[in-house]
This record gives sequence, structure tokens and C-alpha cells, in this order.
Amino acid sequence: MSKKVFIETLGCAMNERDSEHMLAELSKKEAYESTNDFRDADLILINTCSVREKPVSKLFSELGVFNKKKKNDAKIGVCGCTASHLGEEIIKRAPYVNFVLGARNVSKITEVLHKDKAVEVDINYDESEFAFNDFRSSPYKAFINISIGCDKACTFCIVPKTRGDEISIPLNLIVDEAIRATKNGAKEIFLLGQNVNNYGRRFSGNHEKVNFTKLLQELSKIDALKRIRFTSPHPFHMDDEFITEFSNNPKICKSMHMPLQSGNTKVLKEMKRGYSKEWFLNRVAKLKEMCPDVSISTDIIVAFPGESDAEFEDTMDVMRQVEFDQVFSFKYSPRPETEAEHFSGVVDADIASARLTRVQELHTQHIDAKNASQVGNVYSVYFEELFNDGFVSGRSDNNIVIKVKASEELLGEFADVKITSIARTVLTGEIVN
Ligand code: SAH
Ligand code: F3S
Repeated sequence: MSKKVFIETLGCAMNERDSEHMLAELSKKEAYESTNDFRDADLILINTCSVREKPVSKLFSELGVFNKKKKNDAKIGVCGCTASHLGEEIIKRAPYVNFVLGARNVSKITEVLHKDKAVEVDINYDESEFAFNDFRSSPYKAFINISIGCDKACTFCIVPKTRGDEISIPLNLIVDEAIRATKNGAKEIFLLGQNVNNYGRRFSGNHEKVNFTKLLQELSKIDALKRIRFTSPHPFHMDDEFITEFSNNPKICKSMHMPLQSGNTKVLKEMKRGYSKEWFLNRVAKLKEMCPDVSISTDIIVAFPGESDAEFEDTMDVMRQVEFDQVFSFKYSPRPETEAEHFSGVVDADIASARLTRVQELHTQHIDAKNASQVGNVYSVYFEELFNDGFVSGRSDNNIVIKVKASEELLGEFADVKITSIARTVLTGEIVN
């Protein structure tokens, strides 16, 4: 009988892909299959996120529950970014944990499995050319890593300390992976990296220098591939060449993530983001001019150390000018080994909460106003997900989630859908073609 693995994945899309990679290695090399019930598992993995403090403190209480209720001889492994930054401390605090595997070491999952108390967390380890076994949780959409690590030094962010320096994955490996995914039925790929539009600056071996635009052009030549998405591009690297390719290439989905963080130039400087309020607005204007249907999402941090009321108002001002289609907003959370951890001017918790509420309320107003005009619009939808209540959902090119009443035959297919009713984030429609 094959062994079973339960994986809980926290955090970003890159963690999702790392979990897929670990599952692939475990199933091909160790004959594991996955289970949704940790009480039934022989191996329990938590793939952690350390970007904010909350998930880290939750980790140890969760580990306690796993340990109490797991099968007798089941192993527990802690993987991902918190594994990278806490390392051995995890086993000190939770001695029943069998191994700790960092975000940049996931290819070693089948090794650490057999070494009790192994701690593999080297952030200089280079996995950029590792040939992972193929595994995808969805046959319709393929997540593909295009780089590992991050070369930026945003003063609030722990990621460079958990994922190490940025190294691009060679073009030919990415194209091969995309071709394999399309042969398995995927019509859409989702390219992943911390800074995708900085692609190609550094490879580990000798490879022809290619930039992100060239990568997009090469991938677009794959006939069976209909849609390309990516995250996250960095506003600093949004030059005209990139925006032009984005706008003119019909296979690139017209949904852009532009992580603003703050709308105030002084705060942006203290965050070491490398752009100003004006640059950000200039890039948005260029994008909207070249690509009028684009939807724009963003990340916002409120209450960065020293952020005054007036500086916060600049973030609100950018929100009003851009009218983002999606906003991921966070209160600043001090992280170990980051520069901002030592900054003075900690913002009062009540003020931070009030600012977050204002960001979220303004965004809700924008979304409600946009959605109100959606009834009757027709979108080409690529269907990916089946629900128990007889609905199938998919996304428009510009990333609007749309559900229709239909059966599973629609999965992996495109159809034109007319919007018939609206809820805040999900629109319902009927197929017109
Ligand atoms: N490279 C990615 C960022 C990864 S972290 C990008 O540019 O999108 C994802 C988001 O978490 C960041 O964009 C930021 O908004 C948020 N974040 C990171 N560190 C944070 C911190 N210390 N406190 C609050 N939010 C943080
Ligand atoms: Fe973090 Fe900035 Fe890199 S937000 S992941 S250091 S681009």
C-alpha cells in the first residue's frame, strides 16, 4: 500500500508551486500519494510563510495539534520560508518535528525524509536548474517558476533572507516545461518569480542573456498555449518595452499586478522600493493608454514606521487615481533580519487599524462601482474550477472570476459568457457562445 502525505500550504503562489514540486518528488521517488486528512497521513508537511508575523506564531500551535492527532509513526516536516529563517530553532521548540526544509531546498525533500532531525536551510543552494518531476494540482493551469530568490532589499521584507539571491531559470527549461504542461491539457500558464520583469539578469550556468520580454515572446510561440499570466512584476522595472509587449501580445492576459506598497515618495524611499509616486502613476497612465482593458491589482502596506497621516493620504490619493481592481492590504509587520525592524516611529496600533480600514473601504467603493456596470458585458472565460452546487468558474482575460451553471465538461474550455448578476467578487453569467 502506498504511503500518504498531507501538505498544508501557506502564503504565496510560489509556495503553492514548491508544494507541487515536493509532491512530485515524493510520489515519483517514494511512491507517496496525497491525502486531505492529516490524521490519515504518514508524512505531514507544513509549507510556511514568514512575510508577516501572524502565520509564524500560528505555526507552533498548529504543529502541536498535528503532533497530538497524527498517526503514531507519522513524520512531521516544516518547510518553506519560516523553515529557512528559524532553522534549528523549530526542532528546539517542537522536538517532535522530524525535519526542517528551507524554501530554497525543496528539491531535497526525499533526502531529509530519511535523516531524522535534518535541517536543510541553505539560502545559497542553487535549485535553478534542478529537474523536478512533473506534478500539477490542476491540469488546466500550470504554475511555472522562472526565477528563484530576490535581489531587491525592500526594508520591510524578509523574502531575500529566506529565498536568497535572485537566479533566473534558463529559458529552454521554462519553454520545455510549458510545452509539457500544454501536452497535459493546460491552455494557460502562470509564470512565478519575486520580480518577474527582472528576469534574465543572472543565471547560474552559462546561458544567453534574455530578458522577460524575450521570454514572453518565446513562450507565445507555443501553439497550444492560449494564455500567459505572471506574478509579480516590480513597478521599478516596468519600462516601455515591457508595457508594449504586455499590451500588444494577444496571449498575455490583460491583468497586471503592480505592488504599490505606499503612495508616498518619502515612504517608498525608506522602503527602498526604487520608484516614486510619480513614476508609479506614470507607469499606470502608460499602461492604461496602451491597454485600455487592463485590470490592475496591487499590494499596500499601511503604517510603515514613521508614516504620517499626510503620507498615508498619498496612498489613498494613488488609490483614487488608479482605482485598482484588486487590493491586497496589510498592516506593516516588523520582521527579523530586515532593516525596517530597527526603524523608529512605530505607528500606534489603533491608527494602523484605522488606516487599513480606510484602504479597504475605499477599495470596496471602487469595486462596487465597477461591478455595477458589468451586467450585460460579455467576456471570454477559461474554465478551471468545479463547485458542488453545479457551478463551474473561470476567469476572463483581465482576471474577473465568473461562474456559470454548467457541468464539468466545461473545465479546460473557453466560452463567451454574458454577465447576469453580481456579488462583490464573483460575477455570475450565462454562456452565449
Ligand atoms: N516580490 C513580491 C513580494 C512578496 S511579499 C512582490 O513584489 O509582490 C508579498 C507582499 O507582502 C508584499 O508585496 C507586501 O505588500 C507584503 N509584505 C511583505 N513584507 C511585509 C511586512 N513586513 N509587513 C506587511 N506586509 C508585508
Ligand atoms: Fe520582498 Fe521587495 Fe523582493 S517586497 S520579495 S524584497 S521585491
